[in-house]
Formats: sequence, structure tokens, C-alpha cells
Amino acid sequence: MRQTEIILPDPQPKQVLFLRDKHRYVAFGGARGGGKSWAIRIKATILCMAHKGIRCCIVRRTYSELEENHITPFLELLPQGAYKYNDSKKVLKFKGGSKVYFRYCKNDEDLRFFQGVEYDVIFIDEATQILEHHFKQIAASCRGVNPFPKRVYLTCNPGGVGHAWVKRLFVDRDFREGEDPEEYSFIQSLVTDNKKLLESSPDYKKILEALPPRKREAWLHGKWDLIEGQYFEEFDRSIHVIDPFAIPKEWRRYRAIDYGLDMLSCLWIAISPERVAYVYRELHQENLIISEAARRIVELNDTERGEEIYQTFAPPDLWNRSQETGKSKAQLFYESGLSLSKSNNDREAGWLAIKELLHLREDGSVRIYFFKNCVNLIKNLPLLQYDEKRPNDCANEPHEITHDPDALRYFAIAWTRPSPEVEEEGTVRWTVDQWEDYDRASPSEREYLIMRWGKPAPRR
Ligand SMILES: Nc1ncnc2c1ncn2[C@@H]1O[C@H](COP(=O)(O)OP(=O)(O)OP(=O)(O)O)[C@@H](O)[C@H]1O
Ligand SMILES: [Mg+2]
Repeated sequence: MRQTEIILPDPQPKQVLFLRDKHRYVAFGGARGGGKSWAIRIKATILCMAHKGIRCCIVRRTYSELEENHITPFLELLPQGAYKYNDSKKVLKFKGGSKVYFRYCKNDEDLRFFQGVEYDVIFIDEATQILEHHFKQIAASCRGVNPFPKRVYLTCNPGGVGHAWVKRLFVDRDFREGEDPEEYSFIQSLVTDNKKLLESSPDYKKILEALPPRKREAWLHGKWDLIEGQYFEEFDRSIHVIDPFAIPKEWRRYRAIDYGLDMLSCLWIAISPERVAYVYRELHQENLIISEAARRIVELNDTERGEEIYQTFAPPDLWNRSQETGKSKAQLFYESGLSLSKSNNDREAGWLAIKELLHLREDGSVRIYFFKNCVNLIKNLPLLQYDEKRPNDCANEPHEITHDPDALRYFAIAWTRPSPEVEEEGTVRWTVDQWEDYDRASPSEREYLIMRWGKPAPRR
């Protein structure tokens, strides 16, 4: 006969605190190796045994992390006769009818797992890898009309795209309207609280001790103040975000776009006589074909007040010609009433240009400010993380936060780069790249290029 009785291993003191905590939102850990993922599996099992029919859900950022950290060890923990696992539905069903669903949430599309679904208890493992608006939607599915407990348990390590919101709620306890402080609890657990791990892998602590200082402080000692991983450490809401003001008409204005069917991001930037940039408007909209995108951008211009845009920067790949139509996206924008100027797609140089603008100078000034209505850019810029493989670049994930910073990058690099040399009156020295594009262009595109870049001086 197959064994059905579940015998749980003994928790350690910090894990006991976690297992007993009954707040609506409980965060556990705050450092590496404190026994967080283990505690989630045990808590889920206890709940499933105590409340027959309860629906629990364990969330991680990706499926492979779920499988490695939870599904496999969970199935090893339980005796075979005590459960059934449905691999296609990713649900573990206990003998008494309780269920544990395994779900991942990397981007907006994955929120489908939480729409119109009710879970009694949700565990978000590594919540610091999850965006705040994803957390909110996931937490919103923690509900139901039954007597089972309704709770969200989170585990966390400092660093990651969710660092700021987890720190705000559980470490700083800096609550906003609608958030009840009584509902939030944080139990810190360090690797030194996980004696079982220290006994079985004594080298693990040494690995943490050998990390670079900031990461070591964060992962070994659970320090949250060193915002490990944030790419634009220079960004400071209290400095860079300002109340809107009426921009003098004579200030030069630019736009910068990042275009894809999944997202159009367009920024409007005005330059003061002191050469300080003010990002004063943004457009952040999904699913626009080029003609609609061009129309939306143009119609947002305040023509009544004579708002004039000097140039609209865009990434160079918009000039690649489509194999089917023979036309580039830049050409299609032009035909829809919006002429674009080619920016540069050197990522590292572009990010560096933004860093220069954000940099706080000795006199307390910076070279770029954001009007507070530019909510998406202000939200997404500080979320960008360092790329783990290319230390000067920022990560491309999660993809949806990259569009507004990319548009800013196309502006920053184009605006801070020295303007093209002016040759004989009325002509401009084109770069080799520009000549290459011109040579490949059709006659109508050539007209358009001359209009955008100015009449070229003879090639050298
Ligand atoms: N009470 C316990 N009894 C036996 N082993 C335990 C116990 N708690 C944790 N462990 C073991 O310690 C190791 C680390 O635990 P766990 O993976 O839960 O830590 P973690 O905090 O999630 O780590 P990370 O930060 O790497 O995600 C695992 O091998 C786990 O099985
Ligand atoms: Mg873990």
C-alpha cells in the first residue's frame, strides 16, 4: 500500500514565526538562504491538510524557477499516496481535495492566471523579482466566499525590479492611502538563521561573504538601503520630478519615440536657455499601427499655443526597409504626417548620456527634469536593472518597462552628441552612415532624407 501519511520536517525558529503569522500580508526573509522557499512549501502543506478544499497558489517569476524551486522539491516532500500532480494544469491535489496551483508572472500577459480566479492563500516567492502592479493584481485574486484564511505570503531578497515596493511596504512601512499598516508583517531571516543549511553546506556562507560589498551587505546581512541592481541610481524623485510649469514659447522642443506595435512611447522635451532638458509630456499607448501612432503624436501637440517641435528622434531600425512593401517605418510615419530624425542605437553610450543628464552637480542642479505628469517614464526609469552579462548595459527585462527609457535614450544621445559640422552655407556634412542610408534609399526617401538632415556637403 502506498504511504499517504504526511510527516513534516521540523521548522527552525524564524520559520516557526513565519508559519504562525496570520497577517493578511506576511513577508519573510530579506536575505539569501534563510529557508524561505522551504517555509512556503511547508506552510502550503499545513494549510492544505488543515483546511480541506483550500486553494493555494505559489507564484514565481518564471516557470523554470517554479519547477526547480517548488514543483520538484514539493513532490519529493510528499509521500506518493498523498497527492496527485497534474502536470498540464500545474496543480497539485491533496487527498482531501485541497489544491496548490503553480503559477508564474513575468509580464503583463501572465496576469491571465489571476484574472477571474480566486485563491485563498497566495505565496509569492522572490516577490522582489515582481513588478508592483503585478503584485497588486495577483493579490487581488486572494479572495473568496468561504471560511478559509485569506492571506498573501511573500519572500524577498534586496535587489530586483520589486525592490522598491517590497522595501516600502515591509521594511520602511511607509504606507499609502488604502493600505492598512495592521495588515503587514515582516519576519527577517538570514542565512545564519538556517542552521540546517549551514550544517549541510558550510561553504554557502563563505560564498555570500565573498560577494562584492554591496551585494554582500544585501544578501548576507539583509541590508535594503544599497539599491543593488538599479541602473539609474542617480534618479531621485525628490530632485528630478517637478510640478509642471508653462514652458516659454521660444524654448526649443523635441520629441523622441520608441515604436513597436506592442507599445508606442513618445516623449516631449523642452530645452531651457541654460541647456537644461524638461520632459514635459508623454504618450504611452499599446497596439497602434503607424498611421494611428503618427496621428496620436501629432494631435497631442498644442497647436493653439503654437507648440512647434524642432525634431522627433527615433531609433535607426525604423529606417530598415520592409521586404514586402519596400518601405521603411520611417517612411510610413512621414507619409502619415510625422517626419522622424534618426538617433543612435549605441545602448551603452545612450544610457551614459542619460546618466550624465541625471547626475547631481555640486551646485545641486541636474540637466534633466521630468514633469510629474510623465507617470510611466517616472515609474519605469528607476526600475531598470543592470544587465548581468554586460555591466554597462541595462537589462531588457521586463520588456514592458523598457519602452519609455528607450525613447529617452534616443533623445539623450542625439541631443548631447555634437551637432553635425556645418560646411559651406546651407550644407551639412553627413556621416558615413547617413550616406549609406541615402545610397540605399528610393528617390522619394532621398528627398525626405535631405529634408531631415539638411542638404549634404560633397563627400570627402
Ligand atoms: N527546517 C528545515 N529543515 C531542513 N532543511 C531546511 C530547513 N529549512 C531550510 N532547509 C534547507 O536549506 C536550504 C535553503 O533553504 P531555501 O531554499 O528554503 O532557502 P531560501 O531562503 O529560499 O534561499 P534563496 O535565497 O537561495 O532562495 C534548502 O536546501 C532547504 O531544503
Ligand atoms: Mg528560495
